Amino acid sequence: MKVGVLHSRIRRDEKLLLNELRERDHAVHKLDVRDRSFSIDQAGDQFATLELVVDRCLSSSRSRYLTAWCERHDIPVVNSATTAATCADKVRTSLALSEAGIPTPRTEVAFSIDAALDIMDDLGYPCVLKPVVGSWGRLMARIESRNMAESLLEHKATLGHYEHKVFYLQEYIETEGEDLRIVATDGVPIAGMRRSSDHWITNAARGAEVASIEVDSELETLVANVDAAVGGGLLGIDLMETQDGYTVHEVNHSVEFNALNSVAPIDVPSAVVDWLESICLETTAVSS
Ligand SMILES: Nc1ncnc2c1ncn2[C@@H]1O[C@H](COP(=O)(O)OP(=O)(O)O)[C@@H](O)[C@H]1O
Ligand SMILES: [Mg+2]
Repeated sequence: MKVGVLHSRIRRDEKLLLNELRERDHAVHKLDVRDRSFSIDQAGDQFATLELVVDRCLSSSRSRYLTAWCERHDIPVVNSATTAATCADKVRTSLALSEAGIPTPRTEVAFSIDAALDIMDDLGYPCVLKPVVGSWGRLMARIESRNMAESLLEHKATLGHYEHKVFYLQEYIETEGEDLRIVATDGVPIAGMRRSSDHWITNAARGAEVASIEVDSELETLVANVDAAVGGGLLGIDLMETQDGYTVHEVNHSVEFNALNSVAPIDVPSAVVDWLESICLETTAVSS
């Protein structure tokens, strides 16, 4: 297939993906989005000939705009613009999960310090404050007290840009520094891992230890439901285990799989490319 990979910085994850595509003799076009512009009216010759575009942009705004741009020009793209828009924004993800009845931590949104403080008092301390757009656990805070809440909110309201004035507040789930990440394509898990850390934030990018887990049927059903809720595609689903079962706290649309690949019993990039090939076959069948 003739596949374009939209990217900025090439991470280990993109290298794995590009290597797998090339090993299978696919014609790969690396498209560094920092080097080009995108005409609203025209896709241009290079894009018009691509059978599939894979969005691997680090920046969520680039992902959101460029997936929409591809769809405007009828260029098959994964993930879809809907998925990117839903997953790139934690408020929208929470709304989608809630609408689909998927268990997720209690979450509230506020637009002023006073409203946020009321919610935090109600959630109790500790509670969690997250940026609506972000990854790798950056700018997240576990708020231990009303005093800490007041000062953090004041800092964000005074120094943050407008997105940081949207206060995304969540109940704190006691996890003992562990959560789960499942990578899936169209709702079918490829593999899963447990992330463990001395810190309450367990992102692999922050140095958490990772270990492979078996994805049981309960997780399989949950993953399929999450996929349907957010628009589907290649997703990284983050969840925590509670006494009442799993709770989904994030869905990643530009998912990293290097850490998972290092512990999974299956070759993750190979499974991803299998999926890309199947999409390409489908789209070619539809258009011919
Ligand atoms: N409500 C919560 N209670 C306890 N820990 C949490 C909660 N939400 C997130 N975490 C921890 O913080 C990490 C990062 O949160 P997440 O919502 O996945 O944001 P990011 O986009 O930065 O990965 C999670 O993997 C988990 O370890
Ligand atoms: Mg996460």
